[in-house]
Amino acid sequence: MIGRWLSDLPMDDPARKSTSKPMLRRFILHTKPIKYLHLLGSGTEGVVYRVEIEGKEYAIKVFRNWTYTGTKLKGRAQHYTFPIANEARAFARLDSIGQNGTWAVKCHGWMKISGRQRLKSMREYTCWAIVKDYLPHPVSISDIPEIRRKMKIARKALIHPSDTQPCNYRDSFFVDLGRVKTHPYPPQMWSNRERREFFTWFDGYASRWEVSVRDGSVVEGWLNQEFKRSIAEVEARNKRDEAAKQRKLLATVPDATADDQSDWTSNSS
Ligand SMILES: Nc1ncnc2c1ncn2[C@@H]1O[C@H](COP(=O)(O)OP(=O)(O)O)[C@@H](O)[C@H]1O
Ligand SMILES: [Mg+2]
Repeated sequence: MIGRWLSDLPMDDPARKSTSKPMLRRFILHTKPIKYLHLLGSGTEGVVYRVEIEGKEYAIKVFRNWTYTGTKLKGRAQHYTFPIANEARAFARLDSIGQNGTWAVKCHGWMKISGRQRLKSMREYTCWAIVKDYLPHPVSISDIPEIRRKMKIARKALIHPSDTQPCNYRDSFFVDLGRVKTHPYPPQMWSNRERREFFTWFDGYASRWEVSVRDGSVVEGWLNQEFKRSIAEVEARNKRDEAAKQRKLLATVPDATADDQSDWTSNSS
């Protein structure tokens, strides 16, 4: 890991940051105690906490053990697909071109979580973590124009984004870089044409985000269509009580479509 996409140098080291070989530098407060404030999310890649270190708030993503199941890459090249490698390389590239904290959330570097810095519940996680600014606001509909505009930063940085669904944004900043590819990448899994097509696709895709009729969050527009259609169907059968019940029920359901969404997003990108 260190020497491939992680650098031993601290984030504030004055040495020039290579733009061609992106290596993320180390969080300068990596030996300090971590106060865990609350869980922000957990998924297949890792767990994300809001924490306090030396009186300042951060978001910290602790990565899971990753078993590569694809077939295209062999040997050490497989490590390029690890979420931590994807995040580290993309954040390092952005930092090396003076774009840390513009398209994506500001990154403060990587650290190894050890000893008393670890929670008991972290047994199934590795010690590897990436520290980012904590962003308190979810994405809102007024952020969309800026989100679309800022994609040109990723394009210029030779980054191929993925998993760019609304829940991976906070304000207008992309926060989940676990599936993002950064050039140079194993050629079997890198296509300039697909990368170009992604940016065209994304522009239309984000223009179809809407405020959810269910809970007011920002969602892909088709989710609202599905929701409205199912209520309209029930109403058409003149079952108003049932429609009202369905509305109430759906308002309490957590986001059951998250898995389908990410499949759909990755296929389209
Ligand atoms: N820097 C951050 N500030 C605030 N919330 C965040 C931040 N990073 C992630 N989150 C929240 O935590 C969730 C999970 O983080 P993410 O990096 O997307 O993990 P995963 O790879 O498991 O999806 C996000 O969807 C977002 O709601
Ligand atoms: Mg995510």
